[in-house]
This record gives sequence, C-alpha cells and structure tokens, in this order.
Amino acid sequence: MDSQIIFKQSRMEVHNHMSDTYREEIAKDVFRGLTAPRKFIPSKYFYDARGSELFDQICSLPEYYPTRTEMAILRHAAPAIMGSFEQGDIVELGSGANLKIRMLLDAAPTEHLSQLRYVPVDVSTSALVDASEELLTLYPDLEVLGIVADFTLHLDKIPSDRPRLLLFLGSTIGNFSDAQRHHFLRSAAFTMNPRDRFLIGFDMLKPAETLEAAYNDSVGITSRFNKNVLHVLNRELKANFDPSDFEHLAFFNQEKQRVEMHLQARHSLEVMVDDLGVTVELEKNETIHTEICGKFSKSGVEKLADESGLKISRWFFDTDEWFSLAELTLKERR
Ligand code: AVJ
Repeated sequence: MDSQIIFKQSRMEVHNHMSDTYREEIAKDVFRGLTAPRKFIPSKYFYDARGSELFDQICSLPEYYPTRTEMAILRHAAPAIMGSFEQGDIVELGSGANLKIRMLLDAAPTEHLSQLRYVPVDVSTSALVDASEELLTLYPDLEVLGIVADFTLHLDKIPSDRPRLLLFLGSTIGNFSDAQRHHFLRSAAFTMNPRDRFLIGFDMLKPAETLEAAYNDSVGITSRFNKNVLHVLNRELKANFDPSDFEHLAFFNQEKQRVEMHLQARHSLEVMVDDLGVTVELEKNETIHTEICGKFSKSGVEKLADESGLKISRWFFDTDEWFSLAELTLKERR
C-alpha cells in the first residue's frame, strides 16, 4: 500500500503505512489464535495506550532487570556506537519511550547532530508523534521522519539511501518464534547496505529464578499487563472476556529457552467474540499463550546472525552478562 503523509512540519514528517490494515490484522490473528488447538494471542496486541503505560511501569519494577541493565550498557557504549556516525538515519524499530535514543544522541559529537535524522517506526501514531515532538524540542538541529508501520511487515518501507544505525532494543526480538526471528533478520539483512549497522538488544540466559521473578512481580503489574490484552480484544473485536476469570502464569521453559506468559482459565468458560462471529470454549486450567520471551546465549546469537547473512561486529555487555547489545553488519558483499 502507498504511504500517506499524515503530518508535516519544518523538522518532522510522519508517514503512515498502516491506515486500515490494523483491523484486518487483529481479526485474522485473533481468529487464528483462538481457534487453534493450543490457544494463543500474539503479544503485539498488549500495547494499546493502557498496555504501553503498564509496560512502562514494568520497566521500573525491582524484579524487571532488562530495561535498567540495557540502559546501563547503552550509557557505557553510546560513545563507541555514535562516535564515528557522522551522518545518516537512526532507525528505531518499535520506538516507545525516548530514554534510550536520548542516550545515543547525547553521546553524538555536536557537529554530527545536524546531519542525523531520527526515524522511529511504530504502530502507534500518537506515541510516535508525542515522543518525536519531545525530541525535537531537546535537539534543535535534529530531523525526524516518523514511520507508522508494523516493522514485522514493512521493513522495506524504511528509507535506506543514507547510512543507517538500526535499533531493535529491549529484547523485543525475544517475542518472536524461532521461525519469525530468522525471517525477520533475513529480511532486515536484505534491506541493509554494507555501511549499515544493526544494534539489537538480547536478554541472556540466566538462572530460572531470576527470569521467573522478572515476570511475576510482587505487586502484580505484569499480571495486569498480561490481562490487558483481554480488554484490547473486548474493545477491538467486541469480545466479552472477563479478565477475573483468568490467572496470570509466567514460567521459564528450559527446553525452549524462553519465558512464557499465559492466561489460565480459573474454571471452564465460554467467550463470545462478536466481530469474528465465534464462540470460544475454554476448559478449567486451559491456557491462552500470550507471550514468548526468548533468552539467548552468545553462541546462539552468533548462529542466528550467521544464518541470517549477518555477523557480529561488536558486543556490549554489563558486567554480569545479563543483557547484551549486539552490533550486526552484513557478512559479505552481495
Ligand atoms: C518488551 C518484549 C522485551 O519480553 O520482557 C515484560 C515484555 N512482558 N513483562 C519482555 C514483557 C512481560 C518484554 N519485551
């Protein structure tokens, strides 16, 4: 689909590639997920305004180490990442809050700032515009090109005519299945030029207790975040989920090396999803799988990169190696 310019001012432009694909997408995804033998809802539907707010709260929970660990790595690594980047686009896939990008921009030599453009890619126009306006105020020389798009589908809509630093932070890559992850990285590699870099945040394997605590916080925010997806379906698809019928479940799956979040039915129940014209039955203790959060080893990331036509040019870690930023470039010229 062609893009629409939905917003334009002197230093910021926003292009929309989503217009009405969202409704079709959610209907198709939820139908597939709730009629499957093992029910699931794709985790990208957590993030409406309320879900994004809850996720922000998760990031400052004492048990949730990934955000603060990644921030610490970034603070340390930012000069090395930005030092040689004289001009080009900083493309952030799934933009969200501004803190991480600010850390990078603050480390850029001042004379580079007017040659850099920030290109956030996000499904939420309002989040993207709000965050970008804040950045424009903070960095009077910066330009912004916002792209409203689903980066799992629209990587080819992102300009590639200037050198790029692509960012995929927060271990969001952990939300993909193995197949999706390979597909995503191969597509990204396909759009990359030899001078481009791709900085990806990976949450690393660590003792199960630490991982499980991060997804079972003592104040119940993660549980609310998990159940929020039911409110999203109630609103977007006229479903009649009662979130109190469900238990929040999060555990480390050792074999698959990932934390899984589920919503488990407290008793047998029926849910109507009016917009899909389906009734969904759940047995007592049956679960709806809502999220996978893959955890990685160095060798696993190296293999993943290699299989996608990429190589790791630099690693950045915290001292405990709980989290990592891997900088990827094309393996060889095509
Ligand atoms: C944003 C996908 C990285 O998997 O840790 C936080 C989302 N889910 N708590 C993660 C999340 C439950 C988070 N990511």
